[in-house]
Amino acid sequence: MTTATTATNATTPTTSTTPSVATTATFTADPAGHRVLTGDRPTGPLHLGHYFGTLHNRVQLQNQGVEMFVVIADYQVITDRDIADRLAEHTENLVLDYLAAGLDPDRATIFAHSAVPVLNQLLLPFLSLVSVAELNRNPTVKDEIAHSRQSAVNGLMFTYPAHQAADILFCKANLVPVGQDQLPHLEVARTIARRFNERYPHADGGTVFPTPRALLSDAPLLLGTDGGKMSKSRGNSVPLGATEDETARIIRGARTDADRRINYDPANRPEVSSLVLLAALCQDRAPEEIAEELGDGGAAALKRTVTDSVNEYLRPLRARRAELAADRGHLRQVLRDGAERANAVADATLDEVRKVMGAI
Ligand code: TRP
Repeated sequence: MTTATTATNATTPTTSTTPSVATTATFTADPAGHRVLTGDRPTGPLHLGHYFGTLHNRVQLQNQGVEMFVVIADYQVITDRDIADRLAEHTENLVLDYLAAGLDPDRATIFAHSAVPVLNQLLLPFLSLVSVAELNRNPTVKDEIAHSRQSAVNGLMFTYPAHQAADILFCKANLVPVGQDQLPHLEVARTIARRFNERYPHADGGTVFPTPRALLSDAPLLLGTDGGKMSKSRGNSVPLGATEDETARIIRGARTDADRRINYDPANRPEVSSLVLLAALCQDRAPEEIAEELGDGGAAALKRTVTDSVNEYLRPLRARRAELAADRGHLRQVLRDGAERANAVADATLDEVRKVMGAI
């Protein structure tokens, strides 16, 4: 019975049956049993943090045969700014970064939020399943609000995690490759899935939604060149599509410290360690080994090593990117094809949602 439901029901904790974080073994054992959804906001070009945090992972999942949906979250751009600046350009450039990194549009469904209206409609029932207090406590939303360009928090920012739940659940994804900072959002999606299933079971007792799990990247968090969180819109990162000279300039400007001895100690020397880590990821070696080699070389030698490692690592990706960039029509076609597939999936899910809710 749903008639007597109150706001307190919505906050009733439900016990989790699956751990919230998956491991690589989870999907290698059963690629066909997994559907991945992940995405990005089109606020600027993707950078190295995205690459090692999730993009690299997505490509591996795709290549292992896991079905994948990638949302370009255009409606979510206006959570923390008034105007979605150069939206079409940023959206196409995301497609460009994805394809250059190795996502294959024949295997991965790449689409924009605004091109799949039915996905957004799921937000309405979903919002009824979370309390205002729960939305208020979300640490990632708090951080994003702290960095927002707006003086007041708008309602879309506040409901962001529920919208993200719609992104994930519209296609019944059960695996979400994310960075650590997105875990609180995923928890909201899991809560919404569980509560929806409890409140609206199928007549035969079956449930509509899976409880999605996070797939954390093995890579520890890279910091921005200012020592803060690396972010597209904070200008503190190396874009994948940057030139080699731009890359050198950005890395030269990175914050370090005065100690000439280079070591890998993320807890006590976060900025230097993040640079060491970046070189290590590019060279596919242990950060301790890189630090050892640099010895007493100081920040200048560290930055030279990082720059060379990054430029070398990204060279093939950047060459592909330049080729793809010459054909904007192809990028738009990828988005149209993706939207068509995503719309079909969204329609089927909304039909099911309406049916269990009795909204026919
Ligand atoms: N919020 C994510 C970001 O800013 C992008 C995103 C939108 C997303 N919807 C998603 C990520 C669903 C994972 C799942 O990076």
